[in-house]
Amino acid sequence: MNRHSRITGTGSSLPPRRLTNADMVELLAARGVETSDDWIVERTGIRARHFVADGVFSSDLATEAARRALEAAGTDPASIDLIIVATSTPDMVFPSTAAIVQHKLGMAGCPAFDVQAVCSGFVYALTVADAMIRSGSASKALVIGSEVFSRLLDFNDRTTCVLFGDGAGAVVLEASDTPGILATDLHADGRHVGILCVPGHVNGGQILGDPVLKMDGQAVFKLAVGVLEEAARTVLAKAGRTEADIDWLIPHQANIRIMQSTARKLKLPMDKVVVTVDQHGNTSAASIPLALDHAVRAGQVKSGDTLMLEGVGGGFTWGAVLVDF
Ligand code: UT7
Repeated sequence: MNRHSRITGTGSSLPPRRLTNADMVELLAARGVETSDDWIVERTGIRARHFVADGVFSSDLATEAARRALEAAGTDPASIDLIIVATSTPDMVFPSTAAIVQHKLGMAGCPAFDVQAVCSGFVYALTVADAMIRSGSASKALVIGSEVFSRLLDFNDRTTCVLFGDGAGAVVLEASDTPGILATDLHADGRHVGILCVPGHVNGGQILGDPVLKMDGQAVFKLAVGVLEEAARTVLAKAGRTEADIDWLIPHQANIRIMQSTARKLKLPMDKVVVTVDQHGNTSAASIPLALDHAVRAGQVKSGDTLMLEGVGGGFTWGAVLVDF
C-alpha cells in the first residue's frame, strides 16, 4: 500500500495589536510620509494588519499556532516526529526557530529545522514534510509558517511598509493510506534576488548593508501573476485533475489584484478564493496557513475539499501544493 500524507489539523496566531489603514496613515504622517486608505485598498485590498509587541518573536507566534493545530488534530506534542518552520524572520541568526518552538512545546529529540523561501516558505515546507512522510522518515509533522515582518519594515518607505504584517499558521501533517497531498511543484530563479530582499548581514558584531525590506513592486507583480498560473496548472496535471476540481484556491496573500488575476486565469470565481489579505496584510510564509486556518474555522473549507495552495516571493521563489483536505 502506498504511503501518503494528510493535513489533520490547522491552527494560527495573530498578535493582538491591529493597525487599520487609518492607523498607518497616522503613523506615517508623524514621519512626514503621506499615504491613504484609498490608495492602500485600491492597489492592494489591504485594510488592516497585525504587529507584534516588543519582545514577541516568530517562535512565540509559531508555538501558539502549533498548539492550536495540535488541538484541532486531537494529538499531543509527544507524538510529533518532525518540525519544520518556514520563516524569513527567525528569532536568531541561529539556531533555527523550529528548535526554539520544539522546546517551547515541551518536546525534545525529533528533527526540527527552518526553511527559508520567503513568501513561498510554507509550500516549500509542506513539500519537504510530505516527502519525508512518504519516504518513511517521519509519521506526524508540524509544518508552520511564522513571521514578524514588521521588524523588517522601513516606515519612511510608503511603497513597502503599508503592505506587510505579522502572524503564524500551522498544520499537522500525518502519514495516511489515502492521499491528502496530491501533488507539489517548487521553483526558484536567483536571477531576481534584487527585486525583493533584505540586503543586510551580520559581520563582526555589526549589521552591514541595509537591514530593511526592499521591493520593486511592479517587477514582483509581473512575475507573480505568470508563475502562479503555471504552478497551478503543473500540480493539476501531476495529480490528473483540472481547474474544475478545485474547491478553494488559497494563494499567498500579498495583493488582491494578483489573487483576482490568478483566479481569472484558472477560471475560478472569487467566491472560491480564500481572502484574508484585507485583514492580515502580507504575512509572507505565514499567509497561506493563516488563511487556511481562518477558512477552516469559518466553516468555508471542509473535510473532503480540494485545495490549491500557492506561494510566490523573494528569491524569486514559487510553488503550489494540491491537497485533498
Ligand atoms: O510577498 C511577495 C510578493 N509581493 C508582492 O506580490 C507585491 C507585488 N506588487 C504589488 O503588490 C504592487 O506593485 C504594489 C502594491 C507594491 C504597488 O502597486 P502599483 O500599482 O504597482 O503602484 P506603483 O508602484 O506603480 O506606484 C504608483 C504610485 C506612485 O506614485 P507616482 O510615481 O505615480 O506619482 C507611488 O509613489 O503610487 C505611489 N505610492 C503610494 N501612494 C500612497 C506607492 N506607495 C504608496 C502608498 N500611498 N503607500
